[in-house]
Amino acid sequence: MQKDLLKLLDLSREDIHEILDTADQMKYAQKHRLAHDYLRGKTLAMIFEKNSTRTRVSFEVGMYQLGGHALFLSGKESQIGRGEPVEDTARVLARYCDGIMIRTFAQAEAEELAHHASIPVINGLTDFAHPCQVLADLMTVREKMTRLEGLKLAFVGDGNNMANSLIAGGLKCGMDVSVACPEGYDPDQRVLDFAGTVTDAAFRLVRTPAEAVADADVVITDVWASMGQEEERQQRLRAFAGYCVDEELLKLAKPGCMVQHCLPAHRGEEISAQVFEAHADEIFEEAENRLHAQKAVMYLLMKD
Ligand code: CP
Ligand code: NVA
Repeated sequence: MQKDLLKLLDLSREDIHEILDTADQMKYAQKHRLAHDYLRGKTLAMIFEKNSTRTRVSFEVGMYQLGGHALFLSGKESQIGRGEPVEDTARVLARYCDGIMIRTFAQAEAEELAHHASIPVINGLTDFAHPCQVLADLMTVREKMTRLEGLKLAFVGDGNNMANSLIAGGLKCGMDVSVACPEGYDPDQRVLDFAGTVTDAAFRLVRTPAEAVADADVVITDVWASMGQEEERQQRLRAFAGYCVDEELLKLAKPGCMVQHCLPAHRGEEISAQVFEAHADEIFEEAENRLHAQKAVMYLLMKD
């Protein structure tokens, strides 16, 4: 495993399986109230330059359950918001803390932070990637379907941080991945280039949700306007017309297919209220698994 978790493209299939296996053990320990305070006395700094509910709570609770402490740093209220260079923030936090989680806009900022910090840096979402979320998604799918290899994952919607991370994570785990995006909203070229190198799983980028969802075992979607894209909302509502994951679309998937959504969800936009409620158990299990997956990541990166 590397020092940091910045994007799933950096991980091997073995790394991902090690995280998922550890996450299963963390979940078991938590459910059975078994001691697992492996990070006793350690501290995680959490930098948030965007809003969050799940990421903030799951990292903070996870760190507490591991016997450590997490502290919240708002981008705006810390000196980061007043322009203190990332390289200085990195070196200061490394003097106090044992790990840093960052949620920000540019992937380059998270990478620079990691470059200058002697302690592990975990990406809690950038415009480019949402690796912790996709680790939780893979964990949830494996839990329900008992395997990942050979399953077909369909993503319908914007070629955003979720699409990028699902393509990388899904293909690395041997899943066939189909992505339906309207033209102009494709996943990042670096991810498409990686997909082009994969030989033991299939990747398809298509223009209609029906093509992507055909025979899928897992259907995943996400908001059409991500954080930072609020001003494009009206234009995006038009561009994504016809991309709603609804009952009609799901009829094309395998019977008993799973539906995942990282949340927050916009019912009636990327997912119908009916599909959301019919798959609520899977979607909230996915949200819960953020806790277990991130505890695994923190343990693997921050243990002595
Ligand atoms: N899915 C997710 O990352 O949720 P938050 O934005 O609430 O952290
Ligand atoms: N794509 C969304 C994910 C939110 C968890 C965003 O970046 O806002």
